[in-house]
Amino acid sequence: MNALPSADPSEMGGLWPVPPAAPVERRVRFRPMALADLDAVCELEKRAYAHPWSARHFQDSLAAGHPVVLLLGEALPGEVLLAPVDGQVLLGYMVAMRGVDEVHLLNITVSPDHRRQGWARFLLDALALWSRGQGAHCLWLEVRESNTPARALYTRYGFCQVGLRKGYYPNGPREREHAIVMSLLLDRTVAGEAP
Ligand SMILES: CC(C)(COP(=O)(O)OP(=O)(O)OC[C@H]1O[C@@H](n2cnc3c(N)ncnc32)[C@H](O)[C@@H]1OP(=O)(O)O)[C@@H](O)C(=O)NCCC(=O)NCCS
Repeated sequence: MNALPSADPSEMGGLWPVPPAAPVERRVRFRPMALADLDAVCELEKRAYAHPWSARHFQDSLAAGHPVVLLLGEALPGEVLLAPVDGQVLLGYMVAMRGVDEVHLLNITVSPDHRRQGWARFLLDALALWSRGQGAHCLWLEVRESNTPARALYTRYGFCQVGLRKGYYPNGPREREHAIVMSLLLDRTVAGEAP
């Protein structure tokens, strides 16, 4: 199914091109996160993670100038909006950090109510396009070893495991969990398709 992307890149400072297709017929747009969105984003973050980012994490990311992008969707007829943003559905968001010739994905989250509809892939497509535009040659990220859905997403997208950080994440009061380090070479990959 085709999306009806309405995003005007100039609306996003020209930073986030909208990929040509998404799997659900819903008009969507990207827009940079603002401090006023903090409550809605934190509410979704808490629903999405056992160990959510705090408001401070998002504030620090914004203050550091990291790209923090919301994916907003037009409400469908009869749809109840839990924490609307601009009167629209907050489908997901991502936070990235630019390096010299790479981009580090710090957070990618899709609302539990809208999963398995291709939105994470859509976000990754936008990230890959934008990163290429920034001159980056690779994307990289860390993911919890136990995060099967996210690992499946990244592997399906074409990311490869390139390392393991032992005990990287807190996991309850006393335990730690390993992080799998994954990367994607942008030079060799067509957005949205595993090589
Ligand atoms: C991981 C996450 C972002 C995936 O979002 P999503 O919008 O549901 O993912 P998509 O629909 O784009 O899925 C794309 C592909 O990823 C894989 N995938 C995604 N979720 C999966 C799951 N629960 N189980 C197995 N494979 C999965 C599939 O290959 C899927 O393609 P398919 O649906 O055609 O089989 C979402 O589950 C989420 O927000 N989780 C909580 C936050 C999180 O863990 N973020 C990652 C931190 S590193």
